Amino acid sequence: MQIKKITAVLLTLILSVSLAACGSGQTAAESPGTEKQQEEAQTEEDEVTVIETVQAIQDTENRSNDILILYFSANNTKDVDAISSATPMTDGTSSVEWIADIIHENVGGDIVPIIPSVDYPLLYDDLADYAKEEADNDERPTFEDLGVDPTAYKTVFIGYPIWWYTTPKILETFFETYDFSGVNIIPFNTHAGSRDGGTYSLIKEREPDATVFPGLAVRGEDAGKDDTRNTVMQWLEQLDLD
Ligand SMILES: Cc1cc2nc3c(=O)[nH]c(=O)nc-3n(C[C@H](O)[C@H](O)[C@H](O)COP(=O)(O)O)c2cc1C
Repeated sequence: MQIKKITAVLLTLILSVSLAACGSGQTAAESPGTEKQQEEAQTEEDEVTVIETVQAIQDTENRSNDILILYFSANNTKDVDAISSATPMTDGTSSVEWIADIIHENVGGDIVPIIPSVDYPLLYDDLADYAKEEADNDERPTFEDLGVDPTAYKTVFIGYPIWWYTTPKILETFFETYDFSGVNIIPFNTHAGSRDGGTYSLIKEREPDATVFPGLAVRGEDAGKDDTRNTVMQWLEQLDLD
């Protein structure tokens, strides 16, 4: 609503400036040939500028309504279809992905997995060791191009599992890559007892100029249950995204 008012004021200003520009100086009839051509060229340029500016404002308005749901899980791989990889859930969906899908069904927007550049081990014990090394070495694992600019959205949900009491290290890379100033960040995570592990505060530290909403922590083993689905939906309702 506020943005629409600002847009209206900006459009009025732009059009006033444009009309003033058209009305200033010599008229076309008074101008010698080359000056007349210059004046016409200037008027066309002004019109293009107005159109471009209006377009840019409209783009911002459209973007400001957008919601992006990002989620990371070791199950996100670029080489193996998630459904056919070894996974915590029977149908092949990771617990984080299961929640991401519910959010998407309910709030719409775009949904994008964070896919690591190098696949994680699929067997739990191997993954545990691998992730421990990443954590101990404070590594910054990289991820594939998201295909979207996450900072261009008004609201970004970001989902992840707790690994070794905190976020997987790839989330550190993610927050170092993007500046979410002015963006609403809504975290959600799965875990086996650590709840959010202090990660919502960590995200606020990493993105001090973002608004970090109260997140949702779900036990991984509760993914797929109707009660948990209801919990996710109730959490979404009280976020009051409109
Ligand atoms: C490497 C690794 C480390 C983990 N560390 C923790 C932990 O410190 N605290 C916790 O509550 N759960 C921990 N877990 C459990 C996961 O958070 C939980 O299984 C989660 O549901 C996995 O999400 P996913 O199904 O999307 O892969 C760990 C799991 C893995 C694989």
